[in-house]
Formats: sequence, C-alpha cells, structure tokens
Amino acid sequence: NPFRQAHFLTSANRLNQLPDDAGAEVAFAGRSNAGKSSALNAICDQHGLARTSKTPGRTQLLNVFPVDDPAHRLIDLPGYGYAKVPEAMRLHWRGVLDTYLRTRASLKGLVLVMDARHPLKEFDCDMLAFGAASGRPCHCLLTKADKLSRSEGIRTLAGVRKALAAEFPLGTAQLFSSLAKTGLDEARAVIAGWLEL
Ligand code: GTP
Ligand code: MG
Repeated sequence: NPFRQAHFLTSANRLNQLPDDAGAEVAFAGRSNAGKSSALNAICDQHGLARTSKTPGRTQLLNVFPVDDPAHRLIDLPGYGYAKVPEAMRLHWRGVLDTYLRTRASLKGLVLVMDARHPLKEFDCDMLAFGAASGRPCHCLLTKADKLSRSEGIRTLAGVRKALAAEFPLGTAQLFSSLAKTGLDEARAVIAGWLEL
C-alpha cells in the first residue's frame, strides 16, 4: 500500500498557498460530515493523518498530503453544505473551491465521498457535472456502508451506478466503510491509477 507513506505537508487557506501545480493530485470532495477525512485516513492506513470530527465543518482548509514524493498528492477538501458556517466564510470557500477545480492542472481526478444512506444530493451532482465538464474522472465512495445491510448496500450501489451511467459517464462508484475497513483496496487501485503510482 503506497499510501502508507502519505504525510501531511500543509494547509492552504488560499490557492497560492498550495504546492506548485505540477505532478498529479487527487482531491477528496463531499458534503460536510460525509466522511472524507476518515476515508483518506483509512486509505492511507493512518489513524490521525487527516483531522476527523463528529462536528460538521471540521476541515476548513485545503489539506495537502504528499504520498511517496511531492509530485503525488492527496487533497482533503472542506465539506460543502454545512449551514452553520458564517456566510462570508462559505462564500470564501466556494470561491476557493470553484477556482481550484477550474484551474488546477495537476488535479487528475476526484474522489466524491457520499454517505451511502444519502447519495447523490444536489452538491454531489454539481461535483459530478464539474468532473464531466472538465473531463476529469470522479470515483464515488459510498461510505458508512457499515450502516446498511448487505442487500441495502447492493441496491444502493446499483442505483448510483445506474444514475452515473445515465448522466455522468466519467463517474464510477463503490461501497466503502472507513469503520469496517471495506472497499479500501478498490479505492486505492483507482487513486493509484490516477496518480500513476
Ligand atoms: P468535514 O471535514 O467536516 O466536512 O467532515 P468529513 O467529511 O471529513 O467527515 P469525517 O471524516 O470527519 O467524519 C464525520 C463523522 O462520520 C465522524 O463522526 C466519523 O467517525 C464518522 N464516519 C466516517 N466514516 C465512517 C464510516 O465508514 N462508518 C461510520 N459508521 N461512521 C463514519
Ligand atoms: Mg474532513
């Protein structure tokens, strides 16, 4: 697992604080509290790498985690859709996120983290549409799958795949659980492929 070598580099509050736009990076996007930071930690097999929290809105910066060398990076993005964030901060983050997604040449793909019990909410679809428009692949982790029965999981995955096939052909999906540690290798394979690890 090459992701075991991942480490924290920096937190960027603005785009010019990010490392040079060279090499390859993969960003973890998703609604607030969906489980992005937990997924990143599970994939890297490192408990406290990205900060996680029961309180939505925990991740407020673009957190940068180089994998083996600085040219291969994972980015933990702030969650979207958290109502209690002050308006000014929400606007700031929306601007940063929009510009990041539009301009970041080294961004090779998006990991879209969704609670398996509530997939494909409005902002998730915005993210998929962005991926489609910019030609970037989007891999959906249907996380917290431990909260679903086996048959519910199978049904949810089939439903999401069907919706993706109809509207977002660059989208793929899998079941995932940071808690139960399921789906890790499948997710690692996708990300490693994008980063050419
Ligand atoms: P923000 O940074 O605030 O946007 O949140 P996030 O998307 O990074 O979520 P985070 O990883 O901090 O997890 C949010 C909550 O969901 C925490 O209480 C986690 O323990 C819980 N959680 C994350 N992944 C799983 C999972 O696979 N199963 C279960 N049952 N809980 C999970
Ligand atoms: Mg987070």
